[in-house]
Amino acid sequence: MSEVKLVAKPGEVQFPKGLEGVIARETTKSYVDGQRGRLYYHGIPIEELAENSTYEETFFLLLYDRLPTEGELEYFKSRMVQYRELPSEVYDYICKASSRYNDTPMSVLRTAVSMLASFDDSAEEDSLPAHEREAIKITSRMATITAAIGRARKGLAPIHPRPDLSHAANFLYMLFGEEPDPYYARVMDVILILHADHGCNASTFATLVVKSTLSDMYSSVVAGIAALKGPLHGGANQRALRMLKEIGEPENAEAWVLKALEKKRRIMGFGHRVYKAYDPRARILHDYAVEVTKRAGTEKYLKMAEIIERVMIERLGKKGIFPNVDFYSGVVMSSMGIDDELFTPIFATSRVAGWTAHALEQRVDNRIYRPRFVYVGPEIDHWVPLEERVKPEKEPTPFTPLEKLV
Ligand code: SDX
Repeated sequence: MSEVKLVAKPGEVQFPKGLEGVIARETTKSYVDGQRGRLYYHGIPIEELAENSTYEETFFLLLYDRLPTEGELEYFKSRMVQYRELPSEVYDYICKASSRYNDTPMSVLRTAVSMLASFDDSAEEDSLPAHEREAIKITSRMATITAAIGRARKGLAPIHPRPDLSHAANFLYMLFGEEPDPYYARVMDVILILHADHGCNASTFATLVVKSTLSDMYSSVVAGIAALKGPLHGGANQRALRMLKEIGEPENAEAWVLKALEKKRRIMGFGHRVYKAYDPRARILHDYAVEVTKRAGTEKYLKMAEIIERVMIERLGKKGIFPNVDFYSGVVMSSMGIDDELFTPIFATSRVAGWTAHALEQRVDNRIYRPRFVYVGPEIDHWVPLEERVKPEKEPTPFTPLEKLV
């Protein structure tokens, strides 16, 4: 590789900011065709998985690079069921943190997953069987944790998992305390399938950086949760719904979004580093939103979203800005009675399948991630004694908080 200039003046060396377009590694897990707006998990179009698969089967596909036989799927499901329950200490933390401290659901999820490691005596074992077991354990338990967080935020006691329900149905059962209508269990299953993996997104990359140092699987997943928490990544689904609530009525939508664009604000749920076409997951979620909002009598949110989509594509479609997965997911989940503060934890509850599958894939031919910076600081200088120092006139420029951007 030609020698890159590592000491330069600001702006002198060109490099892709945000590692745009930089290849991190080879993978067989998923492919995002950004130009055509297509997504494949191990070569299978997301539309076919959403139509025919289940989250358990999709998780198996991501972990083992093939669809399971009937017997394998039943055994895999039984392993996920076996790991659903949480240690009582984790339930206790979730109840205390959600009612006593001003913790966000994503920070409670991050801490609860971290706690799980203390109850797993092979958590520090660096072997493929241990990592495979942890992948299944953590993926299964994150649903239980997220449901417990949702209830604790309302001052409700957790509902313990049932072994006889599917992963998606059991999640809704633990969240609402009653067996879900099969239609909504299917909608939740599709939501989990759609969010399970998505190439080298920020949270998957964070997981891989941690795993590349041979750190443990729990730490790698906690890194993924931490990255997904940000509003530019997983946190956009909640903000997108709150935007619709702020707009209030469909007749306000067009003026609202035009005014926001005039102020150069970012519309949550639009744009994507890779998709320069319509996110196929958003299309599938839109189609579910039609039925779910009709059943819930919340059609006005879908109407507002469709108006915003039209205006955004008219204005920014030529720049490759279209709805992404976060735009309609909130309309669907809120119409199912799920609070918007649970949207991102649900995203994480699904994406942990991809995080752990990529971590296992990388562990087989691992190399620690270690990119470079271009140093544009001051010339090499010397330490200055305290009495000779003077306060600089100009402090370094502070960042602009997202609130000013959105
Ligand atoms: C997810 O990577 C993944 O795969 C992520 C994900 C996954 O499954 O893991 O798909 C999930 O994170 C979806 C994205 C959710 N985030 C949002 O909806 C937040 C709003 N969107 C953005 O902030 C933005 O589009 C990003 C962060 C998603 C992508 O940012 P990029 O690629 O760094 O794009 P950019 O910030 O350089 O923007 C390029 C231009 C800018 O305009 P100019 O300065 O060139 O004039 O597009 C504009 C931006 O202002 N732009 C938007 C916009 N997104 C980009 N303008 C208005 N509204 C937006 N949403």
